[in-house]
Amino acid sequence: MTPAFASALMPLMRRVDAETAHGWALAALRAGLAGRDAAPDDPALAMEALGLRFANPLGLAAGFDKDAAAVLPLLRLGFGFVEAGTVTPRPQGGNPRPRLFRLEEDRAVINRMGFNNAGLDSFLARLRDLPRPLPGVLGANVGVNKEGAEPERDYPMLCRAVAPLADYVTVNISSPNTPGLRDLQGEDRLRAILRAVDAPALGKPVLVKLAPDLADDALPALVELCVGQGVAGLIISNTTLARPETLRSPQRGEAGGLSGAPLLERSTAMLRAARRLAGPRLVLVGAGGVASGADAYAKVKAGASLVQLYSGFAYGGPALVRRIKDELAALLRRDGVARLADAVGVEA
Ligand SMILES: Cc1cc2nc3c(=O)[nH]c(=O)nc-3n(C[C@H](O)[C@H](O)[C@H](O)COP(=O)(O)O)c2cc1C
Repeated sequence: MTPAFASALMPLMRRVDAETAHGWALAALRAGLAGRDAAPDDPALAMEALGLRFANPLGLAAGFDKDAAAVLPLLRLGFGFVEAGTVTPRPQGGNPRPRLFRLEEDRAVINRMGFNNAGLDSFLARLRDLPRPLPGVLGANVGVNKEGAEPERDYPMLCRAVAPLADYVTVNISSPNTPGLRDLQGEDRLRAILRAVDAPALGKPVLVKLAPDLADDALPALVELCVGQGVAGLIISNTTLARPETLRSPQRGEAGGLSGAPLLERSTAMLRAARRLAGPRLVLVGAGGVASGADAYAKVKAGASLVQLYSGFAYGGPALVRRIKDELAALLRRDGVARLADAVGVEA
């Protein structure tokens, strides 16, 4: 099967419950049925960031492959990088189903999965089993269990465990479905966690993933804190608890984090604000509502060196990866920009 053929099946997938469809997608990927994109990336899309070389800036955001079960087939779809996780120290089942909802009319998703995952030991075993070198960059996203969490103990333990097996590590303190998690974005809590993580000693770049619901006036202190603690970059952003007036889908009242098109504007505005504050001191990863080359380009111009998507991929399927890359390369040519790196932050 080719990515285009796999994408042609997406309307069929939309007829079943969203989490069932997600399970099928992972199974198809693991069985090698999603196809691969063998075409080389346009050299203009290459990006040096975090001390790593990305063949293209497009990544799969955390949460799609929580257990690192399909890293290789996902990279073969043409992603420049894949972020596996969120993994927690111990396995946990997450919230009761249904907990994943498509807002078709809004090109959006609401989820309250609650970090369902097989736990750290299984995650590490999966990463160890991967063939090296991988055909792209691998990130590992870590979080804490719902019960019995001690963030100042758990995050450093998780980071040290995954760092030898991944190219970068993401400290996720911004998922809305683990009670209290977002409070860890408070300055004092985050400082204590980052001190304990000790990013400079980890040997791999550490990213911190933020929520789009942070107050604008909280950002300057967080940026300085992250720079001061040796954090390499920020992922902006996770899902939002906001429910924009524009939502039309019957599912809009479901509890959980909203992602996809309605998140684009807010997450890009926050990204731009972070770029203004951080300048080149932090690598910024733009996530939220990306579904086209133009969306990805907007993130880059706002300050992102790298871009991630989840919801757009859930709607568009495997063929979207190639399409976004082709559109992005065409936009660079249109604007006379030789390398994507030259466009980072030009509109910040
Ligand atoms: C079903 C689902 C599960 C997610 N799980 C995680 C997760 O485990 N860890 C995480 O950091 N982000 C998680 N996210 C957030 C995404 O990584 C991303 O930041 C967010 O969805 C915004 O991007 P998008 O608009 O392209 O989906 C999840 C998103 C969705 C839709």
